[in-house]
Amino acid sequence: MADPTYNLNGGFKPTAKRFADLEGPDFFPTPAWATYALTDNEEFSGDVWECACGNGAMSKVLEKTSKSVISSDLYHRGYGQSGIDFLKSEKKFDNIVTNPPYNSAEAFVKKGLILSQKKFALLLRLAFLEGANRANTIFHKTPPSRVWVFSERITFYPAGAVQKGSGTTAYAWFVWDRDSSRGTELKWLRPGYKAQYR
Ligand SMILES: C[S@@+](CC[C@H](N)C(=O)[O-])C[C@H]1O[C@@H](n2cnc3c(N)ncnc32)[C@H](O)[C@@H]1O
Repeated sequence: MADPTYNLNGGFKPTAKRFADLEGPDFFPTPAWATYALTDNEEFSGDVWECACGNGAMSKVLEKTSKSVISSDLYHRGYGQSGIDFLKSEKKFDNIVTNPPYNSAEAFVKKGLILSQKKFALLLRLAFLEGANRANTIFHKTPPSRVWVFSERITFYPAGAVQKGSGTTAYAWFVWDRDSSRGTELKWLRPGYKAQYR
């Protein structure tokens, strides 16, 4: 059964706010082009852990550029290993890449900074940059190395939904890189990924 809040005048309502889906919290697969926008601009040496992999939408793109991709999710989504709670994990990986659940983004940042040894990349709302609480707990202490702002809007659909319409929320890739000590670089992703990797 579709969530009735996704229909507005008979059409799909873009997810300005992401609501919990019916099978578990916040399952919104990332369109492939949005992951290519990361892998075209950031190299990942060593293994890559997609720690909230859902149905593998992001993992499948990461597997094209990295030889060792490990995929897991707290829930059974039909891809990777299920039943792995990232927030309770202890194992370290070279790189961690994901689009985290909306309501646990801060906790994912804190955990990812502990468990990643090279790079840690999260797809987050651009507005994640705002807020006094995050300024104190994340950005003053552990600012990202690079923020890649999308010039095209990402539309998130629940898995299996008909894809039409356009998103209303700005997103960015937030990358913490242990090899970089230059503060935070603000970068813009070139337009065209959506058409190139449709
Ligand atoms: C927004 S979806 C993104 C799925 C996938 N990363 C992608 O980009 O296509 C967030 C995913 O986080 C998973 N999740 C929620 N809480 C989690 C946790 N504590 N540990 C691991 N995965 C979790 C959900 O089951 C869901 O699949």
